[in-house]
Amino acid sequence: MVIDKIKLRNYRNYDKLELSLNHKLNIIIGDNAQGKTNLLESIYVLSITKSYLHIADKNLIKLGNNFSVLEALVINSTSKKNLKLIISNKGKNVLINDKEVSKLSDYITNLKVIIFSPDNIRMIKDGPSVRRKFLNIEISQLSLKYIRSLMDYNKLINQKNEYLKLSGKKNYDYLSIMNDKICDLAIYIIKLRLEFINEINEYIDDIFFEITSSRGLCLKYISNILIDEDVNLMKNNFKNKLNSYLDKEINYKMSLIGPHRDDFIFSFNDKNLSLYGSQGQLRCAILALKLAEVKIFSKVSNDYPILLLDDIFSELDIGKKNNLIKYINDNVQTIITTTDINLIDNELVKKASIFTIKDGNLEKEVR
Ligand SMILES: Nc1ncnc2c1ncn2[C@@H]1O[C@H](COP(=O)(O)OP(=O)(O)OP(=O)(O)O)[C@@H](O)[C@H]1O
Ligand SMILES: [Mg+2]
Repeated sequence: MVIDKIKLRNYRNYDKLELSLNHKLNIIIGDNAQGKTNLLESIYVLSITKSYLHIADKNLIKLGNNFSVLEALVINSTSKKNLKLIISNKGKNVLINDKEVSKLSDYITNLKVIIFSPDNIRMIKDGPSVRRKFLNIEISQLSLKYIRSLMDYNKLINQKNEYLKLSGKKNYDYLSIMNDKICDLAIYIIKLRLEFINEINEYIDDIFFEITSSRGLCLKYISNILIDEDVNLMKNNFKNKLNSYLDKEINYKMSLIGPHRDDFIFSFNDKNLSLYGSQGQLRCAILALKLAEVKIFSKVSNDYPILLLDDIFSELDIGKKNNLIKYINDNVQTIITTTDINLIDNELVKKASIFTIKDGNLEKEVR
């Protein structure tokens, strides 16, 4: 899959942008605060309809305006689609080929994007909700059924929490029926998360080794539900546990167990990387994760995702930089941002389209 053209209107520091992208490699050069991250973020926002930087939608609109429009022409082997996202004070609308799409789940599988940003290190350091969010977003891009199950699950958990918050005596039968519904969805969600993590683990250590020459990296899913290969056994265990938690949940007035409370860790030689990893190691672990995802996305959807690499080559030593280069290949449309073109290998520079950016204006460089 490639983005042929991108259009932005009143987005962040962009007034009006129309950009034709190279289907292979694009390098965006600019000083600090000129709009490099904003451009990559805009592509992510077009894909997921939300910022990865945990920014409220209204802050995506250029200051002083009341709406923002993002558009991309996305081409893959079977189709050509114009994706459009309109953000205004009233909310968000998504359109495919100028037809409004009412269900978000029908929209977000159309542009598959993997983004690496320096901010991603938060995923290792911060609390579990950041990592759950990552899992949910990534698996949603791969499976329509996952996003639908997740939406249904969240709706049920909210309903249950509202009921638990009501004062007065609780109806155990009602809660038990609710738990049965929650249980089926929960097990499905966990099953898909485990499959995704297993897939990542097939690649992540080799990639990490190729970049850093050290081994021992994997992801470990941490669940409050007993994990077992037998789905029915898992379901029964969880149902029993849920029902044994009824009094506790009534006491706490909230739902206490389920995939909305799960987590995963980056394990490095059986230690939690968040406690021991150096800054460079964390960066490389995230990079290895993202590059593993490129492989998984291409395998599952039979098409390569778009790879966005924000400031990837700064803060890495020369050896690691060179090791990374082979992961930037012609099959995957890639956009790299940098403050300094000299940080980027000459062979890459030779084959890329180069854009310079100043204050939200891009110009293509002729070399
Ligand atoms: N909603 C907005 N309206 C107008 N300008 C905005 C908005 N949000 C962010 N900006 C501006 O965008 C600029 C930052 O752009 P961006 O983060 O893309 O920079 P960058 O080129 O990636 O810089 P760096 O090299 O420091 O990472 C800042 O000047 C910021 O004030
Ligand atoms: Mg930036």
